[in-house]
Amino acid sequence: MAFNNVYQGKKVLVTGNTGFKGSWLSTWLLMLGAEVYGYSKDIPTNPSMFEATGLSGKVRHHFGDIRDKEEMDKYVQSVRPDFIFHLAAQAIVSTSYQEPFDTITTNVVGTASVLEAIRNITWNCTCVLITSDKAYDNVEWIWGYRETDAVGGKDVYSGSKGAAELTIKCYWKSFVRLMPNIKLGVARAGNVIGGGDWAKDRIIVDCVKAFSNNEVVEIRSPKATRPWQHVLEPLSGYLTLGQYLYEDKVENGEPFNFGPCAEQAKTVFQLVQDLAELWELDKNEAAKLTGNVPFKEATLLKLNCDKAQAYLDWHSTLHYEECVHFIADWYKAFYGKNKVDMYALTITQIENYVKAAEAQQLKWAE
Ligand SMILES: NC(=O)c1ccc[n+]([C@@H]2O[C@H](COP(=O)([O-])OP(=O)(O)OC[C@H]3O[C@@H](n4cnc5c(N)ncnc54)[C@H](O)[C@@H]3O)[C@@H](O)[C@H]2O)c1
Repeated sequence: MAFNNVYQGKKVLVTGNTGFKGSWLSTWLLMLGAEVYGYSKDIPTNPSMFEATGLSGKVRHHFGDIRDKEEMDKYVQSVRPDFIFHLAAQAIVSTSYQEPFDTITTNVVGTASVLEAIRNITWNCTCVLITSDKAYDNVEWIWGYRETDAVGGKDVYSGSKGAAELTIKCYWKSFVRLMPNIKLGVARAGNVIGGGDWAKDRIIVDCVKAFSNNEVVEIRSPKATRPWQHVLEPLSGYLTLGQYLYEDKVENGEPFNFGPCAEQAKTVFQLVQDLAELWELDKNEAAKLTGNVPFKEATLLKLNCDKAQAYLDWHSTLHYEECVHFIADWYKAFYGKNKVDMYALTITQIENYVKAAEAQQLKWAE
């Protein structure tokens, strides 16, 4: 059943539904029996998860700019969703260096425009707004960041996510908390990997593009260590947060971190080698180093997820090895000689993920 069946028959609006996470979330919601509505500016990549899984024929989709407050409001009023998951964003760090103004307006003004639409909602609606682990002011300490730590950001993408958090907080305190019909939560996650991502400057994407063309992948920061997590991990967190808010099981208006356990932290180099092996390549020949580091990346940022564990009974499910297997299986099917139904494969991966969570007695998976 999963998530106590709260999404069955509900109207769920996903902003950013054509993106990597939005496409996985839409697929999962369809499996849960929801009527899925989407609002996105474009299909951000080619290929894309959205097209590979044929989602355009399965969800009701509207092309619009999240910054257009009137259009957003009109769409929300016409759909009258029971749930809103806000994921639309300029999500690429390197792009934020080329298009800083666009990044700020999309991520900050775009979030304000969603909040403006929420203010005009007169029916019961549960809203989960997605920001990022990068919303935290990264002071490069060794400890995991907690929800009470300061938001900030030294680069434009991080700053835009920190500013989105401040925007949500002031709208919450000034307006939304006074609306008895609205439940709202904020979700922070990062270093998300999985099949179906084709965004630029992401290591998995660089690998599968190179491997599928019999090329060597170039890596910039082999020693950079990241707490990698499969896309289904934060999505199970977002869906649990939505469920618990809807059922009044968790405090309204609060942020939550969703991250992997400490053993998931691996270097970029190790991840590339493991993926190469699963692609049946010589792992020592699969990658070459490049000195080209085009922008400054924060060195370390991990999340403390005690709050999600305590209040949402949530923790991550997959071990690192399982996570890499899921990814290799998805892309090998996509790039393989035989045509594979990528929607069916995505559903199978979600089912396997739910089974793994059930085996760990995670409440959301019951
Ligand atoms: N992928 C990650 O590793 C990661 C990590 C942390 C946080 N996030 C956050 O999760 C969310 C989804 O990320 P993703 O990786 O799926 O991103 P993505 O780039 O794959 O998709 C972005 C989506 O937002 C839409 N969009 C962009 N600008 C828009 C605009 N002006 N108006 C309307 N729609 C617009 C795109 O059309 C697309 O549907 C974002 O908020 C992102 O910042 C992602």
